[in-house]
Amino acid sequence: MSTVNTVAVVGAGQMGGGIAQVAAVAGMSVIVFDAFPGAVEKCKGVHKKSLGKFVEKGKMQQADMDAALGRIRYATAVEDLKSADWVVEAIVEDAKIKKELFAKLAGMLMREDIVLATNTSSISITEIATAAGAAASRVVGMHFFNPVPLMQLVEVIPGIQTSRDVVERTIALATRMGKTPLKANDRAGFVSNRVLMPMINEAFYAWMEGVAEPDAIDGIMKLGCNFPMGPLRLADFIGLDTCVHIMNVLADGLNNDRYRACPLLKQLVAAGRLGDKTGRGVFEYPGK
Ligand SMILES: NC(=O)c1ccc[n+]([C@@H]2O[C@H](COP(=O)([O-])OP(=O)(O)OC[C@H]3O[C@@H](n4cnc5c(N)ncnc54)[C@H](O)[C@@H]3O)[C@@H](O)[C@H]2O)c1
Repeated sequence: MSTVNTVAVVGAGQMGGGIAQVAAVAGMSVIVFDAFPGAVEKCKGVHKKSLGKFVEKGKMQQADMDAALGRIRYATAVEDLKSADWVVEAIVEDAKIKKELFAKLAGMLMREDIVLATNTSSISITEIATAAGAAASRVVGMHFFNPVPLMQLVEVIPGIQTSRDVVERTIALATRMGKTPLKANDRAGFVSNRVLMPMINEAFYAWMEGVAEPDAIDGIMKLGCNFPMGPLRLADFIGLDTCVHIMNVLADGLNNDRYRACPLLKQLVAAGRLGDKTGRGVFEYPGK
């Protein structure tokens, strides 16, 4: 089993930034690449702030923070990824764009032991792997959760082409990053979103049908089911547009209309109320 020294993260947004951070803290060299100017600079600022909070809270030494930051290289050219032993893709959740990227990565990173992992929340791993052509057996789902530095789980999803060795290495790498890997098969939504999203969608139906108001729906689920966050608050955090997108993937992928997004959820998205990121979704977030 070859050693992973350098992890490349493609996409320096919320998830990519977090993945890069945990890899660097775990001692790996990291290259963060983003196609959009300014994104890597922003990511650098997020790393300093996030790791700074760990130091402030006494959960990390300043020297360890400096060492972790020293292991991250912020790249603006795709060619900079050539020295990577492992790639985690965390770009926009769009099948066409992801497939183009995997075709490019497969042509660029031809060494047989380089794994091409995707952090997709819902797109078929098999479909992404197919775009990688001869490298399909090296493509795997490595699904981190938000916020990555705090969330324990990595869902590991083999596509039908993924080799067993790649799955084992993915489990080993996630463990090395301090995470708990759990395996799921490549069906729409995997396990996490297959179970979570219909529950969130149902909370919107409960609101739409007047079963209760949002505060009561969330309060009941928090106190009654011991959830740290109610389903409607969680929907705002994830992004209501993303929730609709994932419901569409479930409905299409599982061929079942019971997974269609609730009309009220779609209506809020149409009104631009996307959740935390727009300052208003189900709830309001002044100042965000
Ligand atoms: N946000 C979540 O809660 C969450 C949780 C688990 C998985 N995911 C998945 O992680 C991925 C990223 O999500 P995010 O929330 O970090 O998104 P984001 O919008 O914060 O970041 C995406 C980044 O990718 C960059 N990008 C877009 N196209 C690119 C390309 N072709 N090449 C290089 N960079 C490109 C963008 O500039 C942006 O910086 C998605 O697949 C998403 O479904 C998200």
